[in-house]
Amino acid sequence: MSLSFTVTERSDRLPDAEREAILADPGFGKRFTDHMVRATWTRDGGWHDAQVTAYGPFQLDPAAAVLHYAQEIFEGMKAYRHADGSVWTFRPEANAARWNRSAQRLALPGMEEADFIGALKALVEVDKAWVPDSTSGEASLYLRPFMFASEAFLGVRPAEEVTFSVIASPAGSYFTGGLKPVSLWISEHFSRAGKGGTGAAKCGGNYAASLAAQIEAAENGCDQSVFLDSLEQKYIEELGGMNVFLVHKDGRLVTPSLTGSILEGVTRSSILELAKDLDLEPQERKISLEEWRADAESGEITEAFACGTAAVVTPIGRLVSTQGEFRTGPEGEGGPVASKIRKALLDVQTGRAEDTRGWLTRL
Ligand code: COI
Repeated sequence: MSLSFTVTERSDRLPDAEREAILADPGFGKRFTDHMVRATWTRDGGWHDAQVTAYGPFQLDPAAAVLHYAQEIFEGMKAYRHADGSVWTFRPEANAARWNRSAQRLALPGMEEADFIGALKALVEVDKAWVPDSTSGEASLYLRPFMFASEAFLGVRPAEEVTFSVIASPAGSYFTGGLKPVSLWISEHFSRAGKGGTGAAKCGGNYAASLAAQIEAAENGCDQSVFLDSLEQKYIEELGGMNVFLVHKDGRLVTPSLTGSILEGVTRSSILELAKDLDLEPQERKISLEEWRADAESGEITEAFACGTAAVVTPIGRLVSTQGEFRTGPEGEGGPVASKIRKALLDVQTGRAEDTRGWLTRL
């Protein structure tokens, strides 16, 4: 049986003018819509109390397991307003499938795909006015489903009470510089994830583990850090929250193969598909940092970019480490292949191009 969401609309919504001012320059992750989804799972009762209510704090027992043992997962998705006013999201089945893989890895309960998508629909239905016009540019409403162990218990075991929620936040560009290329710090001290760990799961712990490297990156004048494999410190894995692609001058589009410690990005897999329409030859394989450096310096690699739901496609300009630095892509701007891929992806998501693969779901 699928979950039905009880809706209690708040009477004190943000006034239209204030909401419009936020939508005009949303940035990323700073402001939230008027409502949120909440539901509870218990070992004995399964999922229940599914509701859409006013956005606001959780009341959490100080012994809630998530605060101690980080039993938590999340997803990142976007809602786009098309030219006719309809609102759509991109490949939610892929996020639902990854959600359930992450849940299994973190010993959290699974959720039916229909309930996962139903929760997004329920929230967007009440907060539709918060979905920006996506007909030009990349504005969207970022949707953040998450769930955490809310049982008050200090023993280390899977929680028997779990809270599910979805919040939404209007989004523009993830990086404050807009579309200018980002610089990457090559983390030598820290790994993001190891063999058999949680690297392929979308869990908060992976992002927490990336933050010390992010501080190092900032101290060295870089925007993000890029992680190497934990075993040999040789092969490229991913950034703190994005996958990586390298563009070769002969049209090969190469991304690190999924090793179990890399997040299986929905944007990553969509780009691998779209590449074929754009006369590019997608390849998933191991890429060593040394290969990246040598091929960027010889001109064999002409561009590099990061991708993710939040970042869409963001060009990478420079890689920096204690050993020195090298440029990977045109000076000061993104390359033509990254911008062609970015356009192809955004055009489908925002309804500017036909959705030939059935990737869009109406919310
Ligand atoms: C996303 O791209 O949706 C993520 O969850 C990554 C995070 C850096 C915002």
